[in-house]
Amino acid sequence: MQKILVIGSYNVGLTVLGSRIPRPGETVLGDRFDMGPGGKGSNQAITIARLGGDVTFLAKLGRDIFADDALRLFEHEGLDAKHLLFDPEAHTGAGIIFVNAEGQNAIGVAPGANYRLSTADLDAAEALFTQSRYLLMQLETPLPVVYHAIEKARAAGATVILNPAPAQPIEPRYLAKIDILTPNETEAEILTGVAVNDLPTAFEAARRLRDQGVKQTIVTLGEKGSVLVDATREAHFPAPKVRSVDTTGAGDAFNGGLVYALAAGRTIDEAIGFASRVGAYSVMSVGVVPGLPRQADLERFEREGGHVGAHVDAS
Ligand code: RIB
Repeated sequence: MQKILVIGSYNVGLTVLGSRIPRPGETVLGDRFDMGPGGKGSNQAITIARLGGDVTFLAKLGRDIFADDALRLFEHEGLDAKHLLFDPEAHTGAGIIFVNAEGQNAIGVAPGANYRLSTADLDAAEALFTQSRYLLMQLETPLPVVYHAIEKARAAGATVILNPAPAQPIEPRYLAKIDILTPNETEAEILTGVAVNDLPTAFEAARRLRDQGVKQTIVTLGEKGSVLVDATREAHFPAPKVRSVDTTGAGDAFNGGLVYALAAGRTIDEAIGFASRVGAYSVMSVGVVPGLPRQADLERFEREGGHVGAHVDAS
């Protein structure tokens, strides 16, 4: 098992589950409330740790009760959090989440301490870059920090995986330094201008990213699965059919599963199939961390029919 470094966010998540997501100016009475850990970086790191990966998480928290909760969680999950940083002048990140009856969500994030992570913090953690074979990041930390991490990981010979969430434009010269980019539909649209709503448009967006130098682009499409485009081929990977209760964190579960599988020596096709199962499993429960599977959960899931059909090469 090769070493994985996840750099990213931790957010406490406050979720209202109801019939629908409020429109601007509207108050909607929900049916359920859930408070629990989140943040794309933390969710992805915990996914890898639960699956048995060798992962270190680098993030910045405030000095408040939410940070205390995070530390207890990381210890409980066996996640290497020795390199966590704290900023007493910032609050720990927070996400406010609405989930509708179909399990779809809308999320607002107050990044707090996540946005205090600096390039100097990365330089102070030099050894993490030289020891890690994979770097996995998202976009809930400042973009200059993400760019700096890409440079450091490449200098150390690591594979760079960027989950460009929440979506924002990425400088072309950094796009060309990414080994694997994993946007969802809306993120792919913001990065390329192609409105992604089906397989042909997902392939088109991924081709544009390939033309900008991304080595492998995986566009995730929820229940429609995902597509892979690289220099030599295009393929569609279906997703297992499940009853979705809360899709929050499904992308994080997918990304964590993907990088875990690569670090375990699987091929990219095998890793996408595995990640699809991890993502599908995660939407069957409320909250993010409670829905993240361990290997035994996935084995049971497969025995009960939660397998993925073979991928289909489109090229
Ligand atoms: O991807 C889901 C996550 O996005 C939530 O946990 C929330 O905190 C936001 O970061």
